[in-house]
Amino acid sequence: MLSTSIKILNEHYQSLNNEGIDVIQGLTRNQKNLPPKYFYDDYGSELFEQICELPEYYPTRTEAWILHQYADEIAQITGACELVELGSGSSTKTLFLLDAYQKVASYCRYIPIDVSQGILKSSVLKLQHKYPTFFIEGLIGTYEQALIKLESAFTTSRMIFFLGSSLGNFSPQECDDFLKQVTRTLQVGDYFLLGIDLQKPKEILEPAYNDSKGVTAAFNLNMLSHLNWRFQGNFDINLFTHQAIYNQTDAQIEMYLHCQNSHKVFLKALDLQVLFTDGESILTEISRKFDLVIMQKQLETHGLKTLKTWTDTKHSFGLILCQA
Ligand code: AVJ
Repeated sequence: MLSTSIKILNEHYQSLNNEGIDVIQGLTRNQKNLPPKYFYDDYGSELFEQICELPEYYPTRTEAWILHQYADEIAQITGACELVELGSGSSTKTLFLLDAYQKVASYCRYIPIDVSQGILKSSVLKLQHKYPTFFIEGLIGTYEQALIKLESAFTTSRMIFFLGSSLGNFSPQECDDFLKQVTRTLQVGDYFLLGIDLQKPKEILEPAYNDSKGVTAAFNLNMLSHLNWRFQGNFDINLFTHQAIYNQTDAQIEMYLHCQNSHKVFLKALDLQVLFTDGESILTEISRKFDLVIMQKQLETHGLKTLKTWTDTKHSFGLILCQA
């Protein structure tokens, strides 16, 4: 029997009792906001998997197509290396990469990292069966926790990959900080593979975040249920509705939860009382849409030199392979 190799990164984090500070900060601002990482409890990760299958949500299948086409080429460029995936989720798209790396190296280390323990455990189990010669170790934690841990664990050659345009969740400042952290975990010659959603008409973008089955709405609302169990809160999700709009000026989708009635919410574990007024909103996510050339320049400022880029025939999604 295979044992699942999973490590939890947040022990210290929890004992320092820092958890939820971001919730307190976000809910006491003028424009209330909450960090997207709170989407991903086990149920939220399941809903996200459903989003990826929606006809309106093109990014996942487009990126999967690019990976399917070019994974072999990527593996040939980098050669054998340790594979580290930030925000691995179900690792479905990763199969294309793992297949390709299996061809260039009989042995390979794959380290998937995710905040959602349920989905990580089941995907590590599946992968261990599918790739018996690989060493697979899942890490449960935030990007920050993982990157700190990775800094002190240099190995031979490494490729960090960050797919699905999750980078789009960061503001420009957060994006810069994140790339700084990433490069700290890379040695000269190491690789970074980045998947980004590209700018396109609002007519395509808005339906992708307002699907007809209401899965994205359920995903958005689930954040409040997650906060309820995690922080002993009493959000009434019936008082909130989902909205996603494309902000053309900032080239980003903005997802909100709109509150219907004025009421109070209490989060016991944070000793936090929050007042909501009728019509007030919580910004739960930004999803920035990028320009492939500008992104390459930004990566360059972090010492990440683009080796090659790939897109789909409609130029709707981009994949950048760069080297430190
Ligand atoms: C996982 C952050 C890339 O922004 O498209 C999908 C999350 N939110 N539908 C995205 C998401 C609503 C997704 N990312």
